[in-house]
Formats: sequence, C-alpha cells, structure tokens
Amino acid sequence: MKLCLFILVSFALYCSSESSNIQNHLGSRTPYRLKGNKNDSQIKYPNCKDSKIWMVIRHGTRYPNAKDITKINTRLKELKLEILLRHRLGKGELSDEQIKKIENWTWDLDLEKEKFLTLEGQDEMIILAERTRKRFPGAVKEKYNNQTILFRYTATQRAQQSARYFANGLFDKKEAQDVLFSPAAKVDTVLRFYKHCDKWQKQVKKNPLTYTEQKLYGISKEMNDTIKSVTKRLGLKNLLSLDDVNLMYKACGFETSWNKHFTSPWCYPFDVRSVQTMEYYQDLKYYWMDGYGHDLTYRQACVSIKNMFENFSSKGGPSASFLFTHSGTILKILTHLELFKPRSHLRGDKNVPDRTWRASDIDCFGANLALVLYRCKGVDYVLALHQERVVKLPMCEKELCPLKTLKEYFHKSIYECDYTDMCSLKKDDL
Ligand SMILES: *[C@@H]1O[C@H](CO)[C@@H](O)[C@H](O)[C@H]1NC(C)=O
Ligand SMILES: *[C@@H]1O[C@H](CO)[C@@H](O)[C@H](O)[C@H]1NC(C)=O
Ligand SMILES: *[C@@H]1O[C@H](CO)[C@@H](O)[C@H](O)[C@H]1NC(C)=O
Ligand SMILES: *[C@@H]1O[C@H](CO)[C@@H](O)[C@H](O)[C@H]1NC(C)=O
Ligand SMILES: *[C@@H]1O[C@H](CO)[C@@H](O)[C@H](O)[C@H]1NC(C)=O
Repeated sequence: MKLCLFILVSFALYCSSESSNIQNHLGSRTPYRLKGNKNDSQIKYPNCKDSKIWMVIRHGTRYPNAKDITKINTRLKELKLEILLRHRLGKGELSDEQIKKIENWTWDLDLEKEKFLTLEGQDEMIILAERTRKRFPGAVKEKYNNQTILFRYTATQRAQQSARYFANGLFDKKEAQDVLFSPAAKVDTVLRFYKHCDKWQKQVKKNPLTYTEQKLYGISKEMNDTIKSVTKRLGLKNLLSLDDVNLMYKACGFETSWNKHFTSPWCYPFDVRSVQTMEYYQDLKYYWMDGYGHDLTYRQACVSIKNMFENFSSKGGPSASFLFTHSGTILKILTHLELFKPRSHLRGDKNVPDRTWRASDIDCFGANLALVLYRCKGVDYVLALHQERVVKLPMCEKELCPLKTLKEYFHKSIYECDYTDMCSLKKDDL
C-alpha cells in the first residue's frame, strides 16, 4: 500500500514536472505566465526616482495564422484518427487517459479570428500593466493624462487590442475609457522598421541562405531521433514528416498558451528532449532572421533606440511610452542592445543547450523590454528590464547605468541612423 502510494506520488510529480518542462520550451508560442516576473514591488534605488519609462511589448497570445488554422484542422484531425486506431491495436506509449484527451480534442477555430488576440492574451496585458504601474509609480502615474502617457501600436488587431487591455490594467474602468488611442500609422518605422526595409527584406528575410542552418538541423541526427521518438510514442506505422511533428509542436504551443487550465493533447507526443529539439529548430530560424546572423538586421533597430533616447533626453514629452509590436521588433531591439548574444553563431549540426538566445525565454507571447529613466541627485541613469526582470546591459558596469554612458556607446544609433540609406537597395545589392 505504502509502496503504491509512493509510486503514485512520484509518478504524478514526474508527470507534472515533465509537463511544466515542456511548457517552458514552446518557442515564440510559450505563454507569458511562465516567464514574467511576478514580484511587483517598487524598484527603488537610494536617492533616485523613476521618472520615465519606454517599453516595447510583443502582443499577447494570439490565434494562429490562417494557414496554421487550416493545417491543424485538417492534418491533425487525420492524425488523431490514426492515433486512436493504432491505440486500439495496442500500439503506442500513451496512457488511456491521454488517449481519451486526444479522442476528445476538437478544433473549430474560425478563420476570421486568425492572429487575433485571445482572452488569455488580454489577461497577459492586464497583469503586465498592473505590475508595471506598481513598480514605477513615478513614471507611470496613477491618474490618466493624455500628455504624459502614450500608447502606440501597429496597424494590427492583436497589437491594438493589447494596448487597450494594457490600459485597462493601468487604470480603473472609468479612466481607462478616456484613454486616447491615436490611430495606428500604416507605415510605422519605429514599431516595425523591417517591414519597409527593402534591403533587409531582400538580403535576409527572402534570402534562402538565412534558413540554411535551420534546414541542416531539420535533417540532423537529433531531429531524426525526435521524429522517431514522436512516431513511436504515438504508435504510428509510418514515420512522421518533420512538417507533421512541427505542426503538433505548434498546436501544443498555441493550446497551452491560450488556455491555462487545459493541457493540450498535442504536447503528449513530446518528451523534454524532443520538445527541446523543436525549440532549437525554431530558434535557428529566428536567430538568423532576427538576431545576430546579419548586421543589417539589428542595425536598422536604431530607429527605435533613437526614439527611446530622444524621449529620455527631452525635458517634456510623455513620461511613459508603451509600444505594442511584434516578435520581429523585440528580437532586433534586444540584439541591437547586445543582449543574449551567444559565444558563437548558432549552427544546425547540434543543439546548444546552454544558449541564452532562446525564443521561449526572450520572445514568448507578451515578451517585453522596458527602459526606465531614473533621476539620482540630478544625474540621469537607465535601468533595463526584460520580462520584468532587471538585466544589466552588457556595455554598462552596473544595472543602473548612466544615461551619458549609453548615449556615448550608442552614438551611431542616435546620430547616424539613416534608415532610408541603410534600407534602400542600391545597384550593387541587386
Ligand atoms: C521583490 O522585489 C523587490 C524589489 O526589487 C526586492 O527587494 C524583494 O526582495 C523581492 N521579493 C522577493 C520575494 O523576491
Ligand atoms: C471533453 O471535452 C469536454 C468539452 O470540452 C470537457 O468538458 C470534458 O471534460 C472533456 N473530457 C475529457 C476526458 O477530457
Ligand atoms: C487631453 O486632455 C485634456 C485635459 O483633460 C483635454 O482638454 C484634451 O481635449 C485632451 N486631448 C485630446 C486630444 O483628447
Ligand atoms: C535524417 O533523415 C533524413 C531524411 O530521412 C536523411 O536524409 C538524413 O541523412 C538523416 N540524418 C542523419 C544524420 O542520419
Ligand atoms: C517619445 O516617444 C513617443 C513614442 O514613440 C513619440 O511619439 C514621441 O514623439 C517621443 N517624444 C519625445 C519628446 O521624444
């Protein structure tokens, strides 16, 4: 009896730790609730006062794009039937309980909701805002004032709604209704510089070489082992394709993110090791597209960095600027600031388990970077927070970094940020 109980308890512990381990590695679809810092105490330094905040925020959890909605609806429904069939023949490694959950799984997402912010995404923004206000009462005033707080977002439903729910978290209901949301600009180079950077589009985004390392990893031993492991766990007759395994990984990510009280059955095919393979596979793409792979990728983020320095250097202007944007912007800004830089480029031959460049940690839904201006006895300092945790910028000696030091270091970003020149395709680039 005692032994049974012991086995039961340790099994449950094992299962729950495995499931939480998997949830921590869902790449850009990782839920913010697992990553944000929940300690919302005011961040104080002796003789200092927080006076301004500039924060970029990736929209909260969204629905998949139309292509993924359709693929999940068709291909995963097919696979579901096959898995149930094989289980009846005694194949596969899933428990009856897990099979029941798969049997029960349906997918009836309307295509019209593609990329829309989910309910969980709304919650993420509300909670993030509540904590931000508590941490920085000097920069984020309790009372709303259209001169001191600025919301800016891209022309997308998910960014615009993220701004709205963030405002609901900052202010009480009545005040939140007064918040001024200026219409989004169709072309906003501060929020989404890369969208209009022709040279980057051509040389990086649409350049097949950008995906070389990811493709290599797609046929690596680690990936082949993962595909075999997933196929075996599900008891399928034929080896799954990488596309199928990736689709399950995506469904696991989305369903985990948008519903905190439900375990997506599409996480069952994975163990910690195989989910980390899928995570690295996605990281390779973002690393080479949005990270340290190409100089122009992060150089163009000077447009945003410059905006931040201008805000911090002017006497007036808003004391709080909240910018709602996308994964591509967040990653390029982090890279411009030289954060999470690996010792060497990430490659497709094998996983680099100790890397800090990891979308699950730095680019989950609701991922955010805040720069906060502190005034200490008349001198300005900047504090950086990533996912609401203080981080030391690599070019600074301490966390609280003199504004002057940063402005010197980023002199080029401020004074030589010629976006048009940097982004226009010249004859010899073609
Ligand atoms: C919460 O944050 C504050 C301010 O940064 C810190 O002083 C305090 O120790 C933290 N509390 C916990 C429980 O970590
Ligand atoms: C099956 O789905 C329904 C509706 O989503 C849910 O209420 C029920 O608990 C599920 N059953 C199992 C075994 O997961
Ligand atoms: C900003 O707030 C002031 C004072 O409450 C108000 O008079 C003004 O109309 C507001 N501006 C806009 C553009 O709503
Ligand atoms: C992995 O599988 C692919 C496709 O079957 C194959 O081309 C490749 O050589 C395999 N990789 C390794 C390292 O065995
Ligand atoms: C501060 O940043 C906001 C948001 O990007 C911008 O609209 C505003 O003009 C800036 N203000 C100053 C004084 O630099």
